[in-house]
Amino acid sequence: MKHTIIITGAGKGIGRAIALEFSRAASLNPSFEPLLVLISRTGSDLESLAAECDSQGVRTECIQADIADIQSLDPLVEGIMKRHGSIDCLINNAGVGRFGPFTELTEEDYQYTMDINLKGTFFLTQKVFPILEANRSGHIFFITSVAAEKAYPSSSLYSMSKYAQKGLVEAMRLYAVKCGVRITNVMPGAALTPMWGEIDEAMKDLMMMPEDIARPIVEAYLLPRRTSVEEIVIRPVGGDINE
Ligand SMILES: NC(=O)c1ccc[n+]([C@@H]2O[C@H](COP(=O)([O-])OP(=O)(O)OC[C@H]3O[C@@H](n4cnc5c(N)ncnc54)[C@H](OP(=O)(O)O)[C@@H]3O)[C@@H](O)[C@H]2O)c1
Repeated sequence: MKHTIIITGAGKGIGRAIALEFSRAASLNPSFEPLLVLISRTGSDLESLAAECDSQGVRTECIQADIADIQSLDPLVEGIMKRHGSIDCLINNAGVGRFGPFTELTEEDYQYTMDINLKGTFFLTQKVFPILEANRSGHIFFITSVAAEKAYPSSSLYSMSKYAQKGLVEAMRLYAVKCGVRITNVMPGAALTPMWGEIDEAMKDLMMMPEDIARPIVEAYLLPRRTSVEEIVIRPVGGDINE
């Protein structure tokens, strides 16, 4: 059965791992036919990812887009509907972090973080949800963070955006429960991705890998439709890195 799955922030890190995990699942189960709609701002990342998915026999569409560009979201979603006929899953993964002491974060850091983590996530979800609602089926994942319910010294801005994303998740549940749409809040701890920039080897040893987060997401999607995994909290075995 065909499943049209949108993954934002697919080009790197956790989003990329989710696309590859869906491809792996499809290669193991011929009746599962995902069509992966891969979105991020860097086209070359998407093309190399699409080639990897393709090598597993999985169809992809690459869309180079900035989710914070709200005007582009209507044509983006309309285009997906026109080309593929439906949307079954939205994975709100695109997100950014600007970290540092509270007193040093700037207005530009604030705007950049909120535009992507909040505005982009909110409005893309707003465009896609009515399609799932009309189908009385579908699944929305929000990749928030353990920072959606716990503060860390250098994460004031990031935590603020992630606590707010969690607010959106809880509001969406109230709508989704009425129409058979599943909502999953994924709260990862530290995973080794480009988001962290340059880090030392000792710190890398304390982190998860992006595929560790991708696996339970795909498993939650593939569960029978009668079952909804509401939250996935996943941490390094040694606990949080208290940066
Ligand atoms: N890594 C962790 O430890 C960790 C832990 C908890 C939660 N998370 C969350 O997991 C999600 C993914 O994080 P990650 O670590 O995989 O980050 P990452 O390695 O920096 O990858 C983020 C991806 O999102 C894309 N992206 C960023 N802004 C975008 C925008 N405005 N429009 C479209 N695409 C955009 C980036 O590509 P372009 O720059 O090319 O657009 C990139 O492909 C984020 O929401 C993050 O907050 C991460």
